[in-house]
Amino acid sequence: VRERTLIAVKPDGVHRRLVGQILQRFERKGFKLVGLKMLQAPEELLSLHYQDLRKKPFYPSLLHYMTSGPMVVMVWEGHNVVRTSRIMVGDTNPAEARAGSIRGDFSIHISRNVVHASDSVEGAQREIQLWFHGKELIDWNCSD
Ligand code: CMP
Repeated sequence: VRERTLIAVKPDGVHRRLVGQILQRFERKGFKLVGLKMLQAPEELLSLHYQDLRKKPFYPSLLHYMTSGPMVVMVWEGHNVVRTSRIMVGDTNPAEARAGSIRGDFSIHISRNVVHASDSVEGAQREIQLWFHGKELIDWNCSD
């Protein structure tokens, strides 16, 4: 089974012109881009995406931040892509994230952590269905 994950450049990442650098890290690693779009996420979509965080004290400010500007949402495919992407993205709290990871290199605060990465294979499947229609995912092959 080809593993896929959802990676999203959050509004702060787009605002700071980091889309190209983030995309480049996944290409350079060798993963395959199978879906890509830019959107200003509606609150209903974010409330489904973050359904497990509804009771958290930071939830209202999280929604405010995530609706503050456009996002770039991507689906990447490849061997172990969910786990490897989490390592490439780094700890949720940028203060703890390793240098060399995206959050370690580009951010300092947990509430502005630049990028989202699915946390499990099941979570990735759920999130991909939430953010993309099946037709928006391109099953391409270099050898075709
Ligand atoms: P992420 O792990 O992508 O998805 C949940 C987000 O909630 C997380 O990134 C942070 O942006 C945000 N978040 C988690 N914990 C906190 C916190 N303590 N304060 C503010 N935002 C948080």
